[in-house]
Amino acid sequence: MVQVSQLAVPQAAPLIPRLDRIAYGGDYNPEQWPEEVWAEDAALMREAGVNLVSVGIFSWAMLEPTPGRYEFGWLDRLLDLMHAHGIAVDLATPTAAPPPWFLRAFPDARPWTREGTPLGGGARQTFCPSSPHYGAAAAGITSELGRRYADHPAVVLWHSHNEYGGANALCYCPVSAAAFREWLITKYQTLEALNAAWGTTFWSQRYSDWEEIAPPIVAPTAVNPAQELDFYRFSSDAHLANFRRERDLLHTLSPGIPVTTNFMLANCKNIDYWTWAAEVDVISNDHYLQAERPDNHIELAMCADLTRSVAGGTPWLLMEHSTGSVNWQPRNIAKKPGEMVRNSLAHLARGADGIMFFQWRASRIGAEKFHSAMLPHGGTDTRIWRDVVSLGASLSALQPVRGTAVTADAAMLWDWESWWALELPWRPSSELTFRERQEAFYEALWRRHVTVDFARPSADLSKYPLVIAPASYLLTASAAANLREYVAGGGTLVVSYFSGIVDENDAVHPGAYPGALRDVLGLRVEEFLPLHAGEAVALDSGMVGDVWAERLQLDGATVLASYVDGPAAGLPAITSHAYGEGRAIYVSTRLTGESLDAFTAGLGLPARDLPAGVEVVRRGDYTIVLNHTDADVSVPGSFASELITGSAVDGNAVVPAGEVRVLHAGA
Ligand code: GLA
Repeated sequence: MVQVSQLAVPQAAPLIPRLDRIAYGGDYNPEQWPEEVWAEDAALMREAGVNLVSVGIFSWAMLEPTPGRYEFGWLDRLLDLMHAHGIAVDLATPTAAPPPWFLRAFPDARPWTREGTPLGGGARQTFCPSSPHYGAAAAGITSELGRRYADHPAVVLWHSHNEYGGANALCYCPVSAAAFREWLITKYQTLEALNAAWGTTFWSQRYSDWEEIAPPIVAPTAVNPAQELDFYRFSSDAHLANFRRERDLLHTLSPGIPVTTNFMLANCKNIDYWTWAAEVDVISNDHYLQAERPDNHIELAMCADLTRSVAGGTPWLLMEHSTGSVNWQPRNIAKKPGEMVRNSLAHLARGADGIMFFQWRASRIGAEKFHSAMLPHGGTDTRIWRDVVSLGASLSALQPVRGTAVTADAAMLWDWESWWALELPWRPSSELTFRERQEAFYEALWRRHVTVDFARPSADLSKYPLVIAPASYLLTASAAANLREYVAGGGTLVVSYFSGIVDENDAVHPGAYPGALRDVLGLRVEEFLPLHAGEAVALDSGMVGDVWAERLQLDGATVLASYVDGPAAGLPAITSHAYGEGRAIYVSTRLTGESLDAFTAGLGLPARDLPAGVEVVRRGDYTIVLNHTDADVSVPGSFASELITGSAVDGNAVVPAGEVRVLHAGA
């Protein structure tokens, strides 16, 4: 019997108030096509069940061909056409791609690389996020759009910009440098405070004037890590300021229409999405499979779970994914039959109330012409088109799932600040990477058919029986206190190696490692013992670690497994510490694959009797099963009906190879 876990979130309000269905559609770039094509687009959208399109994302030069001169006629006609066909519009501000006139007028608004190279046009995202010229121009076009289309009946959602923090996430130009100094003055008020926080007594870095401070441009050696961290924070905030400007204008000009911007959760290191989450009306996300990875559907699940978590457990919108191959990976492997539908429904299972693609019609020209689309170059006599139509029908059958909440069994901590800090230069091993540990633990839980929420380290964790803290190198004292309280209150906390080491300024917590977690873990890390490339260490539990080992001294913790060989031979490797009502488990080496599976098997998670490669998620009263294998599987339960096929089920359900079933105990 598939167990129902206890951690349900209350049912949420509709994702997009003026759209009473699961959203289905994609980016639509009609400006790339003669107007005669638009009528065919609208008819085919109807055929596919499309009900929402994102329009105008890259239309700035078509809407404002010269500064202050606007051409909205084509967009008026397009929006009217969409409305006439019952297709709602997610109308974009086109500010991710400033027109050529902007770059010519304001060459100092170009972004600079860390090496000091100004980046050119003919592309997109050629703007410095701190440029006041950019801000004024973006506000101009945003205001015009907001005024003109506030009351257009097709517009149900505003799509600010596109993927803030993409290619120009970190800009090192002189304008950014000045803005960085302003940000630092606001944060620290005095140079003394900045010097203390940055530890500038080290290497003679003491600042005596704000003007001496620069972004962390390429330097002869590693740059001050506290300076690097503040630059990440500043950069995330600089983009956020651009978003806020557009959002506030749209809220004023177009009240009642929510504003979103498409995030790139789990794949964008540079934006602290926990901070951004509260700023958007609708959480939306873009996700692209890493096509060459065999288990890429697990990475998809992780990104979807992170998106739901950033959305506070409420429904969210998958703004972009692909029907087939993308065009920007080294080898753009096509999706196999059934894969696109599974991908879409995996997002839905994990909380998405809308499934959108990049893009509606494949471009004939430009840099993305080899990217798949809902309507391929080959037209409607194609497998992709047939799958798009079939997915539209499935989503229509899945309306009852809309608005329901996903239940999770456990939480994992995810912190952009720790990601930034861990991957700065001059760490004890170049093999310490944030995403690797997150994915490894996530995958091990996925293989146990366990659903995970992500949480920031300061979040209230009390509802989770288990919290895993992978790669939590940077942990503030207050976040550590939160974890301590969680364990004291009865939780089980799992901490991976090299966690709880530094504070928000990358300063080592006082005393023996891991200063932030020593007491709750009941141990001290006397010495880091990074391993040679390819070196493995055996544990007496039969597990194998690599990359990292540590010399541990126990201070209350008990040993779960010891090193058999390697630099810590005979010493504890995995420990458990009873603390208050709970326990804290520490894993001092890198476990992967079967070893990590064996470790997670001992964590008391619900045991689900399902074959490998079968994904199960509980959403509302529905059990959504995705069969990623080549064989039909039987799912034990007391199911009475299935939504996609609309058929009755007699207890156990069969999910055919490669397919998805949405099961319900009622008729
Ligand atoms: C991103 C962008 C889209 C498009 C796709 C291609 O997600 O937002 O405009 O370039 O990638 O995969």
